Amino acid sequence: LRIGIFDSGLGGLTVAASIKKEIPQAQLVYFGDTARVPYGPKSKGTIQRYAKQDANFLLSKHIDILVIACNTATSFALELLKKEYNLPIIGVVEPGVKAALTASKEAIIGIIGTIGTIKSNAYQEGISRFKPRATIIAKSCPLFVPLVEEGFLYHAVTRLIAEEYLDVLKRARIDTLVLACTHYPLLKPVIQDILGEDVRIVDSAIETAREVVSVASQMGLMPDTNQEPVHEFYLSDIDYSFSSVVLDELGLGDLNPVEVDIEEF
Ligand code: DGL
Repeated sequence: LRIGIFDSGLGGLTVAASIKKEIPQAQLVYFGDTARVPYGPKSKGTIQRYAKQDANFLLSKHIDILVIACNTATSFALELLKKEYNLPIIGVVEPGVKAALTASKEAIIGIIGTIGTIKSNAYQEGISRFKPRATIIAKSCPLFVPLVEEGFLYHAVTRLIAEEYLDVLKRARIDTLVLACTHYPLLKPVIQDILGEDVRIVDSAIETAREVVSVASQMGLMPDTNQEPVHEFYLSDIDYSFSSVVLDELGLGDLNPVEVDIEEF
């Protein structure tokens, strides 16, 4: 089983790590578009063009399932990619939506993500479709991505910024919060601390990994070998700097990236 995973950069490793935990025998083929990150503040048209190139590259690596680990790319390009390619494609939005609906008791749900993800309304529409009466408070938190990439997971400055962003959610008395961005699971401790223990925090990375298991099982693709898989790791800029604190936190410290010219795909 070869699972292709792409993200705008390295944040999608949170999703890769969750998939690795659920299906340790699967071969992961990861592509991070570090030459063009961030996707969060860019337009729908640009993200759709990038997402197609990212998918084309991974398809050239003979994958069985494609996972869009990036919330911004899923929000803007999942439907388009599903129309264009003939293999199972899993995005992070629907698993996150389902998890939020299961977790929420009072249906007052907060969503935090990049500017693009929030603007696309993908999560808001997903939640409303299943629960039209849900109260949804969506907030973009653009400074979270660079803070995580800098390794400032527990830094005082991160706490201050998080308090500012989360204030509106806190005042709305949300009972559930969706972390609708690859990087945010790394800030879960500080977010939980600010919102309080009663707020349930839903992480789409874990839910997406479960969805991958379910699709692979349905297709009869679950590997029955004990062999240690060899993962493949590609980046469009291998010099891209990302805090090693974060890579270690994810248990993904020793990745040997191969550089790809993504504009060729
Ligand atoms: N991977 C992006 C996401 O989940 C965050 C980083 C970026 O803006 O590219 O939306």
